Amino acid sequence: MTADYGSLAIDTDRLLRHLAELGDIGAIPGTTGCARLALTDEDKAGRDLVLTWMRDLGLDIRIDGIGNVVATMPGEGDLAPVMTGSHIDTVATGGKYDGNLGVLAGLEVIETVIRAGVELPRPLAVAFFTDEEGARFAPDMLGSLVYAGGMALEGALGIEDSDGAVVGDELERIGYRGTAPTPGPTPHAYVELHIEQGPVLEDAGIGIGAVEGVQGISWTELTLRGQSCHAGTTPMRMRRDPGLVAARICAFVNDLALEFGGAQVGTVGAMTFRPNLVNVVPSEVTMTVDLRNTDEVTLRAVEARFAAYVSDVAEREGVDVERRILARFEPVDFDDRVIESVERNARDLGYSTRRMPSGAGHDAQMLSRICPTGMVFVPSVNGISHNVTEYTEPSDIEAGANVLLRTMLELATTEF
Ligand code: GLV
Ligand code: MN
Ligand code: MN
Repeated sequence: MTADYGSLAIDTDRLLRHLAELGDIGAIPGTTGCARLALTDEDKAGRDLVLTWMRDLGLDIRIDGIGNVVATMPGEGDLAPVMTGSHIDTVATGGKYDGNLGVLAGLEVIETVIRAGVELPRPLAVAFFTDEEGARFAPDMLGSLVYAGGMALEGALGIEDSDGAVVGDELERIGYRGTAPTPGPTPHAYVELHIEQGPVLEDAGIGIGAVEGVQGISWTELTLRGQSCHAGTTPMRMRRDPGLVAARICAFVNDLALEFGGAQVGTVGAMTFRPNLVNVVPSEVTMTVDLRNTDEVTLRAVEARFAAYVSDVAEREGVDVERRILARFEPVDFDDRVIESVERNARDLGYSTRRMPSGAGHDAQMLSRICPTGMVFVPSVNGISHNVTEYTEPSDIEAGANVLLRTMLELATTEF
């Protein structure tokens, strides 16, 4: 049953203002995008700004050992909160909306409730989780994984980026290694608003996605080592070229995804040649492979084919392979009751809805390990994200934030 909160609605201008102000931090000149990789100075500046807004609302703010920030508006009783949130770190070529929308809309929901003087039986909380992107420190969703008890804090603090910087040191450096315990307290329920980051909603002309779950994610880093030599003097048959192996793997990943079809996707997103010179056969190539599917059994089959191909092609070319798993998360199903709440509240507000899986990883998939969880999606213009041109229409932002508001209010009065 939808609780009756009359005409309670978020303030769209205030939310858009907050999105723009946060997006100015780490802004990429000449674009509308921004770069705030996890635990950099830009991430710190973004965190500091959001914390001022949390403090302005008089929220109870806790920072845990991995730098997750949870701000809570007390309820009538000492009960577990309904939590929302997302992340404010971005990829190096990010937009203003990925993650940021979920955090700032959560803050907007709480401000709306406070200003309206609505008393709820349960607290509402908004969180931003550390290093959701995984673009600097793998795996992705690191902070929410630790919050949900999926990785011990000590292990997470020791993770290094490609330049050897360490999570724990970087947290200390930016002043966000907090003292709140991990795993964190279990919320009553968790619901996250996010841009879709793909083309489905826009293409179908649907306003709100009621997210049913998140596809499985498999990230591998390969280091291929061969023999560096002169490009002009070394006959083709006498080479051990890791660049050739990398190129073949790159094409194979694409072919493999097409062969399996359906939801299967495969991407080589990063590749580094050493010494990376026009007239030198490379000595070493490092590359990443991202494989995803909504079905775990299929994803495992794809991983097996991929692993076998890598061994074969490397052996054929006389190249050594080192493999490192950067991230591996099984597909996640969200809670039917939360999915239904999102759908019902969206329809009550007059929006068209569609149930859909998420192609991207989200903090919600970690929270779903510990409490009933769901997500609200709003359309991404041209389906583009992880790109500076990422954009979502203000009317869609307003719709998503109001669905988030209604869903949180309903969850605050629902016993599971
Ligand atoms: C996280 O943003 C991911 O899905 O790669
Ligand atoms: Mn995101
Ligand atoms: Mn992202």
